[in-house]
Amino acid sequence: MYYQRKITDDIFYVGESDRRLDRFENMFELPRGIAYNSYLILDEKTALLDGIDETVSERYYENVRAVLAGRDLDYLIVNHVEPDHCSSLNNILREYPNATMLLTQKGEQFMEQFYNLDYKDRVRIVSEGDQLELGKHTLQFIMAPNVHWPEVMMTYDLTNDILFSADAFGSFGAIEGHLFADQLNFERDWLSEARRYYINIVGRQGASVMRVFKKIEDLGLNIKTICPLHGPIYRTPETVAMILQKYITWASYEPEENGVVLVSASMYGDSQNMNDILASMLADRDVKNIRVYDVSKTPVSEIIADLFRFSNAVFTCLTYNTELFPSMDALMRELTMLNYQNRKISYLQNQSWGGRALKIAQDIFEKSKNLEVVGEPFKILSSVAPDQIDDLAKLADEIAASIAD
Ligand code: FEO
Repeated sequence: MYYQRKITDDIFYVGESDRRLDRFENMFELPRGIAYNSYLILDEKTALLDGIDETVSERYYENVRAVLAGRDLDYLIVNHVEPDHCSSLNNILREYPNATMLLTQKGEQFMEQFYNLDYKDRVRIVSEGDQLELGKHTLQFIMAPNVHWPEVMMTYDLTNDILFSADAFGSFGAIEGHLFADQLNFERDWLSEARRYYINIVGRQGASVMRVFKKIEDLGLNIKTICPLHGPIYRTPETVAMILQKYITWASYEPEENGVVLVSASMYGDSQNMNDILASMLADRDVKNIRVYDVSKTPVSEIIADLFRFSNAVFTCLTYNTELFPSMDALMRELTMLNYQNRKISYLQNQSWGGRALKIAQDIFEKSKNLEVVGEPFKILSSVAPDQIDDLAKLADEIAASIAD
């Protein structure tokens, strides 16, 4: 049963939320579910913008039918071909045999690779600047390669200044009644999920995101509403400006705030003890934002989001089978995949009789851009010894001073 959700008088929300899926892309925890957004424009011509994941597609087909109310679908616009948006589309094309599908050349290739595209003869390839007239609405296509896949484009409604932004500006989290960010306490309840989504899903592609922003600026577009493919919609000057500013910060790999994220893996609690002591020392030195995580416990996507949020990090290199503890090794490698950079980092290490954990960690970050190492790596043998407290305090001094710089 469809309950009508309007973006404007003639643009309807037809997306759905999934609260059953455990992990997005089988990687990222979804404690609050996820929304797959899709939009339907009713003009002289009708246009559906993007599909949704097949897991909740039966409801989606109902939504589309209800909004069309017996009208035909003229256009299906596919901004992004990842299966969380396109696994429902062969069925849409089957149900609406007169619909033309608009997507990029690479988008067609991916549709073919994923779905053996049943309706190839109904594809119209679009390129930079192409427009589509629906009647009142004129849509312009903006190529956005690598935000976050190579085939991505965005669609701009020149009539209402609405950017249909594909994955950009998306959030984890199912829709909870309110569709619009201005109806929510966004900073309190949603910003962390928007950040976790961007950093983990799109984070590697900062340069591509900035290129799209430059293109939008060069075109002189005055975005009034942003309709992403996941999470809340931005429709007020305040919320549009807020999320654009966050994206500029995230895409340029600048920290949002000063603060220290201490990440360890601790088998029996001794490395954790070292982290807790250092965190206490930082608190005594007036460091305001301190996060302490065990990488074996907290979902990695949350730790990564905070590592991008704050200016400083401390990584504990625990030796395990002579190598770097596996979950820390995986975290650090994922950070490099996401182009982690422009941060101040420090190392702690713990070993009982040998091993290469610190060297492996340093090698992982060797090619990362602008990671400034603060202080000397601080080493313990199995547990913190009483005569090491002064040395750990020295490292705390150096970290606190690096934040004050
Ligand atoms: Fe929401 Fe890149 O898929």
